Amino acid sequence: MNSIKRHVAFGAPAIGLLSLALAIPVLRAQAPASPQQAIDAAYSKYRTLKEGKNADYIPALAKVDPNLFGIALVTTDGKVFTAGDIKTEVSIQSISKVFTMAQVIQEQGLDAIEKRIGVDATGARFNSIIAVEAVKTVVGTGAPEMNPLVNPGAISATSMVSGSSSDDVWKKIIGFHNDAAGRQLSVIQDVYKSESDTNQRNQAIGALMLAYGYIKSNWQQAVDLYTRQCSIGVNAKDLATMAATLASAGKNPVTGKQVLDADKVPGVLAVMSTAGLYDDSGKWLYHTGLPAKSGVGGGIIAVSPGKFGIAVVSPPLDDAGNSIRAQRAIADISNALGGNPYAAKKAGS
Ligand code: DON
Repeated sequence: MNSIKRHVAFGAPAIGLLSLALAIPVLRAQAPASPQQAIDAAYSKYRTLKEGKNADYIPALAKVDPNLFGIALVTTDGKVFTAGDIKTEVSIQSISKVFTMAQVIQEQGLDAIEKRIGVDATGARFNSIIAVEAVKTVVGTGAPEMNPLVNPGAISATSMVSGSSSDDVWKKIIGFHNDAAGRQLSVIQDVYKSESDTNQRNQAIGALMLAYGYIKSNWQQAVDLYTRQCSIGVNAKDLATMAATLASAGKNPVTGKQVLDADKVPGVLAVMSTAGLYDDSGKWLYHTGLPAKSGVGGGIIAVSPGKFGIAVVSPPLDDAGNSIRAQRAIADISNALGGNPYAAKKAGS
């Protein structure tokens, strides 16, 4: 974060620096934009972009305003930068998979997820059943080559959260999300009902995961709690705070609460890197280097370890199920701020 702070401290007029940065990319590389400048530039560049389409296999998601566009960035020292609509909530969807995975690791250790579900990319769509069959490993005979960020692995991860009743497990799941976001979140009931009415495919996946030993009992409860966690309402600022918690070694930089042990964070980020954007994870990583996670509600979070968490909410998606404006805005902003963790500085510079 040093380069960002240094630049902010110059106190140069924002507009002058912004036009300079846009006009002369080589200068931008030498003197990174400030977070607010980078966010404002991406917001105005992509505000009118009309590509992609809301998810509609969950009917409630098709009704969300496709023009909704909000960007938030939270630094590891707790500063918040935003543009656009950062108040309107969308359902968190698959971004919740990261936090339920983290919760299981927090409770049961890094091995728990690796042994039961696996930490390998499937290279398939998020709800692929063929990918489950392709693993060919019944749990117990070897480490499965799957991960907790695709639906089968995520439903299994939800089944691993301990608790004496469904309510008990739910309180833990929502509690962990609350801690990462730094406020009390709640379920968007309309989305929960809509997905519950139409999630036959996830029910089939749940039953299959029981048959193959990933889920030990009560797959119906696992699918229901998974559906509920996907329906949690979040805005761009909530998501950026959750991402920043992962960027800050598991400590929410706004509230100061240690949500996840620091030694558990790298494993979570590794799975986000290889599988966070599903079959497009490689392309994303190639261009940004950032561990990230998308949701079909239109959110994407990305983490620049030790620097910042960033999130964008914009519902229209590409074919892989990832928000188009979110991908473009996050890539631009992070690259302008030197967020790519693979881009080490040359010695002495
Ligand atoms: O299970 C589903 O299909 C949704 N609740 C979540 C899928 C999702 O968000 C995929 N992400 N891009």
